Amino acid sequence: MSPVRSLASRPHASRPHASRPLAAILFLVGLSLAACGKSEAPDEGDSEVAEAPSAVLTDVQKAALLADMPEPYRSADLAKGEALYAMCRSCHTYVKGGGNMTGPNLWGTVGAKAAHTAGFNYSDGLKASGLVWDLATLDKWIENPRGLVEGNKMSYMGMKKPEDRVALIAWLKVNTSPAN
Ligand code: HEC
Repeated sequence: MSPVRSLASRPHASRPHASRPLAAILFLVGLSLAACGKSEAPDEGDSEVAEAPSAVLTDVQKAALLADMPEPYRSADLAKGEALYAMCRSCHTYVKGGGNMTGPNLWGTVGAKAAHTAGFNYSDGLKASGLVWDLATLDKWIENPRGLVEGNKMSYMGMKKPEDRVALIAWLKVNTSPAN
């Protein structure tokens, strides 16, 4: 895993006849480099904590939200939905208090009125749409945003497979909603 460590140990391998003091020095250098590498690990951990959802639901709470959905959503594959969310995350955050990016933060969107997120500069088309993001409307939006709301500014070409949209919408519901 540590490129530093493998670099540091290469001299050992390539110089089996190095004198003992030299080997000892290399060993110590290797140790200190390895220690440097380790000191980076807590930083990575910190940034993960900083990005972690501020209202993390337990698996039981998520299961309860899912169970409240009608079929086919309640039997959806959430892992698949999470993988599909990769298509959205370049423009959207979804955790509570997550910022707006190119697109608005999606916390609380399922079931909400269109254009409800504070501080986001929505298109006039979406603001005037009068839509509510119920499951059927979200399905149409994700299938073809332009087809649903003329003049909206979400540059996304649409997700064509119905079963993919089901998985994504179920995942969105359980990851952007407060617990029941
Ligand atoms: C290229 C950036 C981009 C991508 C990719 C993208 N969106 Fe968006 N999204 C936007 C923008 C911009 C808006 C605001 C549209 C407007 O105001 O007309 C938006 C709006 C929305 C809304 C309406 C939110 C509200 O508050 O009314 C939903 C829901 C949504 N996006 C879901 C998704 C999902 C799900 C995906 C992935 C399949 C996705 N978006 C991919 C940029 C993007």
